[in-house]
Amino acid sequence: MKIGIDKIGFYAPHLFVDMNELAVARNIEPEKFTIGIGQEKMAIAPITQDPVTLAANAALEILDEQDKEKIDFVIFGTESGIDNSKSAAVYVHRLLGINPHARSIELKQACYGATAAIQMAKGHIALNPDSKVLVLASDIARYGLNTSGESTQGAGAVALLISAEPKILALEEKSAYLTDDIMDFWRPIYSDRAFVDGKFSNEQYILFFQKVWEQYKEKSDFGITDFEAICYHLPYTKMGLKALRTILDQGTEEEQQRLLENYKISSKYNRMVGNIYTGSLYLSLLSLLEQKEDLADGSRIGLFSYGSGAVGEFFTGILQSNYREHLQIQHHRELFESRKEVTVPEYERIFDNTLPIDGSSIELDTDSDPAAICLSGMKDNMRLYINKLNR
Ligand code: CAA
Repeated sequence: MKIGIDKIGFYAPHLFVDMNELAVARNIEPEKFTIGIGQEKMAIAPITQDPVTLAANAALEILDEQDKEKIDFVIFGTESGIDNSKSAAVYVHRLLGINPHARSIELKQACYGATAAIQMAKGHIALNPDSKVLVLASDIARYGLNTSGESTQGAGAVALLISAEPKILALEEKSAYLTDDIMDFWRPIYSDRAFVDGKFSNEQYILFFQKVWEQYKEKSDFGITDFEAICYHLPYTKMGLKALRTILDQGTEEEQQRLLENYKISSKYNRMVGNIYTGSLYLSLLSLLEQKEDLADGSRIGLFSYGSGAVGEFFTGILQSNYREHLQIQHHRELFESRKEVTVPEYERIFDNTLPIDGSSIELDTDSDPAAICLSGMKDNMRLYINKLNR
């Protein structure tokens, strides 16, 4: 039985800041951000969007009534969760009207969370072939204004429907993974901003990639020749390129060209959104599938997942017949085209406009947010959500 990705949804908030403008405001040469880091636009979450609403909006575009009946497991991967007890999956479960007889949980291991969720979903489907699992990968990346991580922030979510006989990508059996207890990036529970040892995190990302790639080759007998493309977790688009370059000499010139060209296509959406942490790898996959028109059915795609702290995994999938017919290409084009640019001072105001943490109530203006699902306020220490489609 094949198990894998049946549908993919994506959502990013409607606001962005131009990286050239941010560079000028920070007295940095724009090419450092656009070439050195490889980012063009950075998605900004208004106060009415949090990881729950981003995920719910991403799932909204892909689920039909039959899916909602069949889903019996909702797994929410995030490292910017909103509660230390209740899972974000439970909120999304209600907001989308999913079958009550479902399990709903949250998973965390930095940017690796969604990959762990997919592997768990795969096991669940192997035991329950008729069911479907909704995997949500949603985050808001925050390092702080004027920090060295600032240019690698972002916000967004990817929703993946995992099922038997998937229409888009069948996951293969072999995969290679690695854990090492390191402090390259972390966020203590008292902080809403991440701490990072930037250079060390870059080095570890590459080291993890090399180790799982070598382990994968041993386990599978496959090598570069067998891959049409490799998608990477992309904290910024230059990062995956640095990792890819370290193995390119294992292929012929033609194979190197193919992987480099497909890498570029797989990082297009990420360049326009920024880091969405655990969803970044899947945004890169989506970019490849939607932006490369002639990617043949049957192609093998490699996927490198990296979650600081750190866990890495290399796994693979095969594109299914007519997979392009099951993508939301037009919808995503419209999403990108309808975004609104904010100035750097506006972005700074949005960044600093956070929810109360002293138990006081707040009502938020959801009319200025075009998203269907929004955070409408806080009362009695509870977040309140609305789905405008149900009004
Ligand atoms: N024109 C072109 N390129 C320029 C330039 C210019 N005028 N000026 C500088 N550059 C280049 C530099 O040469 C450098 O390129 P290389 O990396 O290829 O050498 C690049 O721009 C970045 O320059 P710096 O290294 O000086 O940048 P920095 O010190 O400001 O930090 C960073 C960059 C470490 C990525 C920082 O933004 C950061 O800490 N980000 C958060 C952590 C992160 O994303 N780590 C990635 C791995 S961890 C992970 O993947 C998990 C996760 O999601 C967080």
